[in-house]
Amino acid sequence: MERLVIEGGHRLEGTVPICGAKNAALPQIAAALLSDEPLTLTNVPDLADIRSMLTLMEHYGVTVAGPSHATVTLDAAAAANREAPYDVVRRMRATVLVLGPLVARFGHARVSQPGGCAIGARPVDLHLKALAALGATVSLDGGTIDARAPEGGLTGARIVLASPSVGATETALMAAVTARGETEILNAARDPEVCDLAQCLIARGAVIEGAGTHRMLIRGVDRLRRARHEIIPDRIEAGTYAIAAAITGGHLELTGARLEHLAAVGAALEAAGVRIWPTDRGLMVAMEGRPRGLDITTEPYPGFPTDLQAQFMALMAISEGASLIRETVFENRFMHVPELARLGADIKLQGTSALVRGVPALKGAPVMATDLRASVCLVLAGLAAAGETVVNRVYHLDRGYEALDRKLVRCGARIRREDVP
Ligand code: EPZ
Repeated sequence: MERLVIEGGHRLEGTVPICGAKNAALPQIAAALLSDEPLTLTNVPDLADIRSMLTLMEHYGVTVAGPSHATVTLDAAAAANREAPYDVVRRMRATVLVLGPLVARFGHARVSQPGGCAIGARPVDLHLKALAALGATVSLDGGTIDARAPEGGLTGARIVLASPSVGATETALMAAVTARGETEILNAARDPEVCDLAQCLIARGAVIEGAGTHRMLIRGVDRLRRARHEIIPDRIEAGTYAIAAAITGGHLELTGARLEHLAAVGAALEAAGVRIWPTDRGLMVAMEGRPRGLDITTEPYPGFPTDLQAQFMALMAISEGASLIRETVFENRFMHVPELARLGADIKLQGTSALVRGVPALKGAPVMATDLRASVCLVLAGLAAAGETVVNRVYHLDRGYEALDRKLVRCGARIRREDVP
């Protein structure tokens, strides 16, 4: 097990390259199963979760080749339908994204029901309802999801999602692109990662309209063809480094970042006194002095992203004034609060809200990471805290951030990664 030892109090100055989006790459890797023609993905981030998904693809007989981790060609010509074992699924919930492609390609899928995780119960009922709307018979068989298409395959239908679930929208989209006839997805998630999946499928010959809106129209095609697609930059990684610049009173250029994917975050940062503007290489973020406190509520895209709530709370912990942070997407996404309190933050939890009263300075201490975004929140707080902060269980971090400590050290942070004896 590894930990990060951070010496706080150093301004960050420099350039950070933003990687491809984890949450765009994961569904597109799963979508390789839809066709016997190869799919080449570029700008793929080098992350534990991506490696897990690629290993799962090999479990299905998909060949995974590429000159580097960033460029991967997936060939599912010889893919065979097998069950996704629980020990793979429990490690990463996004494996449920193979369900739609397997039913669409093979007419049947058995995928272990992903359990909950640290941030919530994470049900998949909306995924299953979407498949049932397309004609699949879906049942739960002792913890395994069993989904079977009718003889003639899936048939296009109207799918009305009870909530704009990112994963359920992606399952519906992947299952619909080769279904017979037309599918309408209402209350679809509008996230850039959903749009990027749609662009990847369109490059392979799918007929999709309305990606990025609440209403998507898909006209089924017989088969998908070979294609090459570049993964969009990771807006959550970019937002994380923007907050790293703000919390250290620094100045960072985030190359590859797109402000249009971070509008709600940019607006909040500016309201807090952070300067953020687009450059021809990406985004510039600069901060002088302490941030102003302000209230935020997490919402489905284009609202403030739940995946940046913990990071923003770290910034508000040293703000002038107070900040009411409401988490409306997941039911248990405040595990970073007691750890921030160990660093001297003044935060009161009230149901789905956290009242943060800014303090002039945080003080370093050992803290424990509990999930991906909580762990990076503690790193950000450690960058600002006086003295030494030790963030344990860094494996959480490596699931979603490529070389985070190295990128920060290159911009002036004092961080060392060490094995826990
Ligand atoms: C995706 O998760 C992301 N993961 C999450 O990022 C992100 O936080 C989330 O979208 C919201 O933006 C990937 O894309 C791999 P949802 P997903 O379905 O698809 C409920 C990270 O840190 N719901 O939009 O699982 C659910 O419980 C991760 O990178 C149902 O009730 O999120 C939650 O309360 C964390 N039934 C809400 O909807 C369902 O069938 C939003 O979930 C599905 C979801």
